[in-house]
Amino acid sequence: MIEELFIAKNDLSVLKQQYMFQAQAPSNIALVKYWGKKPHQIPANPSISFTLSNCHTTTKIIFNQKKKSLATFEVFFEGAKKNSFKPKLQTFFERIAPYVPFLAAFDMEIHTSNSFPHSSGIASSASGMAAMAHCIMQLEKTLDTQISEDYFYQKASFLARLGSGSASRSIKGNVVVWGENESIPKSSDLYGVPFPFELHTNFKNYKDTILLVDKGEKQVSSTVGHQLMHQHPFAKQRFEQAHDNLKKMTSILQNGDLDAFIALVESEALTLHAMMMTSLPYFILMKPNTLKILESVWAFRKETGLKLCFTLDAGANVHLLYPTYQEKQINDFITRELAAYCQNNHYICDSLGSGTHAI
Ligand code: PMV
Repeated sequence: MIEELFIAKNDLSVLKQQYMFQAQAPSNIALVKYWGKKPHQIPANPSISFTLSNCHTTTKIIFNQKKKSLATFEVFFEGAKKNSFKPKLQTFFERIAPYVPFLAAFDMEIHTSNSFPHSSGIASSASGMAAMAHCIMQLEKTLDTQISEDYFYQKASFLARLGSGSASRSIKGNVVVWGENESIPKSSDLYGVPFPFELHTNFKNYKDTILLVDKGEKQVSSTVGHQLMHQHPFAKQRFEQAHDNLKKMTSILQNGDLDAFIALVESEALTLHAMMMTSLPYFILMKPNTLKILESVWAFRKETGLKLCFTLDAGANVHLLYPTYQEKQINDFITRELAAYCQNNHYICDSLGSGTHAI
């Protein structure tokens, strides 16, 4: 698939004065991490993620036929005007403009809200951009009723990727691969594809409890972190390793080997942070309580043999992954021992979900 195939027809002969679309998009958590990119939001290596369910963004866009020669937009977050979101959205609209020329005919009013607290340290860019992209595709589908379902979802992921790379993995499927990899047929650098093989029952409804260790603003953004991979001394090895790990993960997700899953997921999380610590300039996003949690998880696993593991995003929070059938004992452990490491004892319980949908 090449980018040109995603350029929408621009037949605006019949246009209503106003359209309104809404979408709900989940966050996702990467098992094999995307860290480093080429121009136009092309990933330096492939990644694979679990789609979440409870952590989501709900977005409504009202498209009004534009009043002035240049289309404008306003954005509201949880009911209040949010001009600080505008620069990121402006960049997003500029990037997607060639593929959705019809947008130039509309002023947009964007209303968005998250199911998780704004200052929780949970990145809302994946769910936020996925929800936006889905609303825009709903408009495209209304203007061009001929487009297929496959095209709808591929292009929604393609547009979301131009807003935030990991957003491409929040559109469709409970496990999503983004980035070309030989073990995944039809995988693409341009958009995420649902994991094409049968997921082992061990992973059905897999749990993700997000421990909110630090709800503050990160000192180093993902954008800067990705940039630092350009001159990184270990970049080449890391990108090769990610390809290899994705291949291994593809087998694990089918054969249900939870010990292999744990080893790979934790290694990926620590490698992501190792890349940060060995960048120039170097930085650390983990906090003392992050490390305390990791040590507790290792001790608990050794003691009980239960299949609890952690992964990390570009931040201090810890995602705890575990199978549903061990939920009771693991939840007891979380409340008893790990909640104390969270800011205000705050954590979020989530599990595998299926992607973005219209509401
Ligand atoms: O989508 P971005 O540019 O915010 O980058 C996300 C990078 C990680 O969350 C650290 C890893 C990943 O694959 O989601």
